[in-house]
Amino acid sequence: MAIQPKSDERLKKLDELRHQSRLGGGQRRIQQQHAKGKLTARERLDLLFDPGAFEELDPFATHRTTSFGLDKNRPPGDAVVAGHGKINGRLVFAYAQDFTVLGGSVSETVGKKICKVMDLAMKVGAPIIGINDSGGARIQEGVLSLAAYGDIFLRNTMASGVVPQISVILGPSAGGAVYSPGITDFVFMVQGVGQMYITGPDVIRAVMGEEVTHEELGGASAHAIQSGVAHFVYETEEECIKELRRLLSFLPSNNMDDPLFQEPLDPSDRLDPDLLDVVPTEPNKAYDVREIMSRVVDDGDLMEVHQNFAPNIVVAFARMAGKPVGLVGNQPSHLAGVLDIDASVKAARFIRFCDAFNIPIVTFIDVPGFLPGTDQEHGGIIRHGAKLLYAYAEATVPKVSVMIRKAYGGAYIVMSSKHLRGDVNLAWPTVQIAVMGPDGAVNIIFREAISNSSNPEKTRAKFIREYEEELATPYVAAGYGFLDDVIDPAETRPRIIAALDMLKDKKDTLPPKKHGNIPL
Ligand code: HXC
Repeated sequence: MAIQPKSDERLKKLDELRHQSRLGGGQRRIQQQHAKGKLTARERLDLLFDPGAFEELDPFATHRTTSFGLDKNRPPGDAVVAGHGKINGRLVFAYAQDFTVLGGSVSETVGKKICKVMDLAMKVGAPIIGINDSGGARIQEGVLSLAAYGDIFLRNTMASGVVPQISVILGPSAGGAVYSPGITDFVFMVQGVGQMYITGPDVIRAVMGEEVTHEELGGASAHAIQSGVAHFVYETEEECIKELRRLLSFLPSNNMDDPLFQEPLDPSDRLDPDLLDVVPTEPNKAYDVREIMSRVVDDGDLMEVHQNFAPNIVVAFARMAGKPVGLVGNQPSHLAGVLDIDASVKAARFIRFCDAFNIPIVTFIDVPGFLPGTDQEHGGIIRHGAKLLYAYAEATVPKVSVMIRKAYGGAYIVMSSKHLRGDVNLAWPTVQIAVMGPDGAVNIIFREAISNSSNPEKTRAKFIREYEEELATPYVAAGYGFLDDVIDPAETRPRIIAALDMLKDKKDTLPPKKHGNIPL
């Protein structure tokens, strides 16, 4: 068959259109984007994917609106750049809203482009990353743009627990548009660049008479510290995207995928004779549980999630013997590591992510109980604390725990206990397990004996000693099999690794049901 000579004209046209599509809203708007200290959609995708590895889809798709002068403003590609490529050599789908085109607003066409990559990601089982920088629903398209959001939300919901979904907020994300990131597994934000809110400052002023800036209302700090909407916050877009790439290195591509293996430098049998010294002997003295975590995991490499939200509990990704694990630990250096509403919600969501994606959970326990007070009770600590309990109980991935110093009351049960299907429960010899701490317990059960005694303080001290020696030791729980072993703290790393290795083919089930009813 004779080969047709290539038509220069047709190739020239293709080049022109590609160039036009790559320019989005044009050079002037690109400069405006840069002047705001923001990268363009394409610059962001270039940073996200391995060099040259991004393949764009639908660069020539255009919106169909002819009213409001939009017939003269129809850039190829519309207001989103979408496609797929490799990140650290693995397939990932992504879209980046292009603020230079009609403020990144979501039209019917933008919605179709986003849905196309989401559908493909689901078919092939690869993560989806959405970079948000948008004025929201395209006002000129009315219900068509609302429908586009509905289509995206539906796909976010269907993809939940099937492929990891990550949102990056690098500009405005306002109104109902925030519910796409809100459904996804992890939200990244950059200080001073991304803002998320349901209603902006103008509406708040009009309706509530309250003055608030965009940044105070929905900036990275507000969502990282107060609302808990943002899991990761950074100073620059470059750092944010670099850390997103790092997060992906801990995650499987989908819920059927094998865990990623990364050869550690650290030997699996490494002992740490100084680990015990991290923990003060006094039960109420603070220390940083992250110090224990980082000394136990491979190469000290921890990626903390939700670092600034509910710091009284720490959740983090790490690796042990080369395989990813999810770590949960009470944090004695903040509010004594007590469980409260935010801590319960934070850890429950993390545990459910790990469970959905077959990432074993390792829990470090040092918990004085649930936080008392009317704020907590009226804020719903009963239903929020129940989330954590439910998440641990429901999880079928390997669950290994190490009790460090104390576990009192309901918090003992909640934190990955044997009673909630904990698989391997280890404790250091320093542990106290009881309904409550010795001071409170002795005051209740020996109140009369103490007040009738000739030397109440001495009597009290005697009862405390007895309580600590006879009731609150780990050997009582170990005697009932609620703890599988009491270990030398130096052996913590090899013992966890051995437990995870024993559990690597674990299969556990839930009774047949449509879905449970986690107390939301
Ligand atoms: C169409 C839009 C747009 C929108 C911005 N633009 N938002 N066009 N639909 N939703 C256009 C602007 O007209 C402007 O075009 C260009 O994008 C850049 O916008 P600016 O306002 O100049 O930029 P800036 O000053 O940086 O302000 C950004 C902004 C503001 C804060 C996002 O544009 C804004 O408030 N937009 C509307 C936000 C909003 O209320 N959206 C609807 C939310 S409700 P020109 O050509 O003039 O430069 C929603 C429902 C979702 O989204 C439904 C889900 C259930």
